Amino acid sequence: MQFKIAPSVLSADFGNLERDIQMINESEADWFHVDIMDGVFVPNISFGFPVMNTLKKHAKKPLDVHLMIVDPDRYITRFAEVGAAVLSVHLEACTHLHRSLQSIRGAGMKAGVAVNPHSNVSLIEDVAGDLDLVCLMSVNPGFGGQSFIENTYRKIEQLKNMQARLGVNFEIEIDGGVTLGNYKKLVDTGATVLVAGNTVFSAPEPKVMISQLKQ
Ligand code: DX5
Ligand code: ZN
Repeated sequence: MQFKIAPSVLSADFGNLERDIQMINESEADWFHVDIMDGVFVPNISFGFPVMNTLKKHAKKPLDVHLMIVDPDRYITRFAEVGAAVLSVHLEACTHLHRSLQSIRGAGMKAGVAVNPHSNVSLIEDVAGDLDLVCLMSVNPGFGGQSFIENTYRKIEQLKNMQARLGVNFEIEIDGGVTLGNYKKLVDTGATVLVAGNTVFSAPEPKVMISQLKQ
């Protein structure tokens, strides 16, 4: 089973950001997962365009950007300019999700939607054909290092059923609390992209941890 690992930059050492970016470049990781938080949609503020510019300059793998911000439509073009390959907006932050997804694709990026733990995945059924990725939040967004919410497995199954029923395909990404203890079951259930922040960056050898998660 092919699946991708996307280490979350949120857990990197920002005093040594270039070093940590190089580590991911040299590792078996597939994508960089980039968490943008505005302090309004989520109770935390992460980083913005200066860090995106550093990533654009040094990262040699696709930037998978997860916007945890209100009114994301305002910034879609800017994120294309700073090198986002995949851009996910939150279902809960979009009044006109269909339009937002069209704008993301129109700006040349892959379009993703992130779904909070409390939101039912049936809510995205009518835009399923307009999606390249669904980011299932397996923690409440805002912080790295939280515990995995077990109901996520059920949501993966629901997405798989939706894909089969509608004849559509998109990546199923799991974001939050991914560990060596649960990654296999997640992939077996149908996840195709695993985000890992704390598990990678708190490991004594992050590059070795990434290889272990790829097995
Ligand atoms: C949470 C973020 C996640 C976070 C995952 O709001 O969206 O991407 O970095 O971190 P871990 O893997 O530490 O749970
Ligand atoms: Zn994320």
